Amino acid sequence: MPGIVIVGAQWGDEGKGKITDLLAEDADAVVRFQGGNNAGHTIVRDGVEWKLHLIPSGILYPGKCCVIGNGVVIDPKVLIDELDSLRARRVDIGGLRISANAHLIMPYHLLLDSAGEAKLGSLQIGTTRRGIGPCYADKAARLGIRVQDLLDEKILKKKIVAAMEPKRLSLRPYEKDPSLDLRTMTEEYLTYGHRLEQHIADTAKLMWEFLGEGKKVIFEGAQGAMLDIDHGTYPFVTSSNPLAGAACVGSGVGPKNIDEIWGISKAYTTRVGAGPFPSELHDEMGEKIRSRGGEFGTTTGRPRRTGWLDLVALRYAANLNTLTSLVITKLDVLSGLDRISVCTSYRGAEGAEFEDFPYHQTVLHHTTAELTELRGWKEDLGECRTVSDLPDAAREYLQFISEHTGTPVALVGVGPGREQVIWTEAAQQSLLTRDGRPASGQPSAL
Ligand code: IMP
Repeated sequence: MPGIVIVGAQWGDEGKGKITDLLAEDADAVVRFQGGNNAGHTIVRDGVEWKLHLIPSGILYPGKCCVIGNGVVIDPKVLIDELDSLRARRVDIGGLRISANAHLIMPYHLLLDSAGEAKLGSLQIGTTRRGIGPCYADKAARLGIRVQDLLDEKILKKKIVAAMEPKRLSLRPYEKDPSLDLRTMTEEYLTYGHRLEQHIADTAKLMWEFLGEGKKVIFEGAQGAMLDIDHGTYPFVTSSNPLAGAACVGSGVGPKNIDEIWGISKAYTTRVGAGPFPSELHDEMGEKIRSRGGEFGTTTGRPRRTGWLDLVALRYAANLNTLTSLVITKLDVLSGLDRISVCTSYRGAEGAEFEDFPYHQTVLHHTTAELTELRGWKEDLGECRTVSDLPDAAREYLQFISEHTGTPVALVGVGPGREQVIWTEAAQQSLLTRDGRPASGQPSAL
């Protein structure tokens, strides 16, 4: 031990990549446990931007053990492209380990994802069209192709035939698509197997060894709590569990291996794709947040929907994950406003007030946000490195979030650079920061 989970506490895109990259410096391993290349992490190091989709955010530390766990769905072409581009930029990828049990996204998954969305018409989910849902569906139907299958031509071919058989009807419009030709597909995937073979491993066992030796392991979540297939805004969700509980199943360790759970939230809310978003702003303020926060998807480039911070949803996420700490990112984006609103409850269509996240989708779809106004601040926060550098109103805002969620704020992001963070006193209690961190500034109370 220790094992530390980092998860998104909103609808994804909270800045998990940057925080994982920061905290990974002291960790011995970083493990991805769910999702696939629907995720997109942007890390800025010394002014240079890195975009990762599948590879854990610790990869920029030479030789760091970075694991793609069994719970991840892998598009091998995307993974190899990502590895090639890292290699071209002289990043040492020797520490990458890929679970032999992780499932593979196949060409038919990509086609079915797009076809499924087209069929839904106005009810579409707004998926990233990366084949995530169809791949997880095959996993559950026990028709999945796994990483280990890449190493055996006969098995691979047999499994592809078995997986495609029940999809014949839905794949009929793509009959002539060369990517679906059995021989081409098998050969292509065998080539991927050869390329990836040196990285394929029994990653659960590797994690038991790390944790058994007292090494520090970070479990890096993708997406966020509100996109969880069980607890999110179903059906407008992803097809995996981006919650801390899934870190165990998706990597092969037990719950006793988890010591801390950090939830990442922006100082406001964003969402990509369709689905309910009670605190959404459709006005100039929403546009202002989008342009100042650069709220455009890393994976699809889509403009993100924006809104005030939703504390009903954030408290729900804190409970679903048993968060031990919160990280508030992009606080600097809110500078310059006279007043800042936060959503503290929902108002139902019939006038009822909801302090807790409503379990019924019909209720949720018709709620509007009840807002509480707080003082804004004018100062640019980019140079703040301690809590005491922050304007009073910004400190009050963080205190308000912490009180409403019952979770201490450990880290605050005040700009895109990795040095633009504030470590609070709560961070000092953490296993993540106890030996050696924080790197800059003195931690201080909110
Ligand atoms: P899928 O995961 O591609 O199936 O998409 C399902 C829903 O999750 C859509 O609303 C996507 O926009 C959303 N989604 C998936 N991955 C991410 C992410 O990394 N950030 C934000 N939203 C995501």
